[in-house]
Amino acid sequence: MTQKILVLPGDGIGPEITAQASRILAACQARGLDVEIEEGLLGGGAYDAHGEPLPAETLEKARAARGILLGAVGGPKWDTIEDLAKRPEKGLLGLRKELGLFGNLRPAITYPQLAEASSLKRELVAGLDIMIVRELTGGIYFGQPRGIEERDGQRVGFNTYVYSESEIERIGRVAFELAQKRGRKLCSVDKANVLEATILWREVMERLAPEYPDVELSHMYVDNAAMQLVREPKQFDVVVTGNMFGDILSDAAAMLTGSIGMLPSASLNESGQGMYEPCHGSAPDIAGQNVANPLATILSVAMMLRYSLDAPALAAQIEEAVGKVLDEGLRTADIASEGTRTVSTSEMGDAVLAAFEAL
Ligand code: IPM
Ligand code: MG
Repeated sequence: MTQKILVLPGDGIGPEITAQASRILAACQARGLDVEIEEGLLGGGAYDAHGEPLPAETLEKARAARGILLGAVGGPKWDTIEDLAKRPEKGLLGLRKELGLFGNLRPAITYPQLAEASSLKRELVAGLDIMIVRELTGGIYFGQPRGIEERDGQRVGFNTYVYSESEIERIGRVAFELAQKRGRKLCSVDKANVLEATILWREVMERLAPEYPDVELSHMYVDNAAMQLVREPKQFDVVVTGNMFGDILSDAAAMLTGSIGMLPSASLNESGQGMYEPCHGSAPDIAGQNVANPLATILSVAMMLRYSLDAPALAAQIEEAVGKVLDEGLRTADIASEGTRTVSTSEMGDAVLAAFEAL
């Protein structure tokens, strides 16, 4: 059956990097991947065209798609929109919420070729392979009540950190199951010494643990987890945490690998429908210059093939092609180091495509 894929280039460097990833996707089609590809608007560009960061038409296309490939949204041009609900980021958050994409997988893998590009010493990061599982549709990002209001003559801003048992359980199961397929170690990150919502989080993780006897479950407070990630990152296998802690820790983990420009991500719902996007943002400072790193987006296509389209062999070929190109010494500016050749976004796309086609 032909499956639908929706490409949402978004803002900033989004169109440049998704253009390269789309070429790889087309090459997969040529190899027999049975998909139909559409494009749509999301974020600032959608706001400019329709006055909404998530137009109804995009949402409709997204619902019909098995996989969504997203570039990035946002930029200074839209930072002054007064109504927060119209900001580009709300387009992204709305799509996550509307499609129920609660399970966010953010792998942090240090390619051996890039260990020098990390800000940490080579021996700390070489061979690193962590999977951060971030809850994506709950927690403080969506909790009610929220707002800014006048109280006793001054303005007060407030948000609500809330998780139900069922929300914790379903993300917990995703993490335990992934741990079973990997190194069988799961670290649940919380702030159970202070926050009730995460006391419950810890309790639910403990309750699930006996169902996964082959997985070793541990707990860590988020402040310590941040420290341990930069002190001895290889102690982690799978990390599971809530929306906000996962947002922060996944950026830190990204830098361990040399560049946030390398990290793909998957956001899945219960039916395996998924949105795939690089972990980095829209990088407006380098947009339109053909210098951004397209590899995280290309690797996001690989994740889509693996998690939503049941095409693990093609996924592995894309990953192999990326490895080959790095072996050849090609680097975009963000991952360049001594002795490598700096290439543009499109040259990187050319090289990965050639390596893929040669496999
Ligand atoms: C991310 C981003 C988003 C988030 C922003 C753009 C809303 O930082 O995907 O990590 O905070 O979830
Ligand atoms: Mg983030």
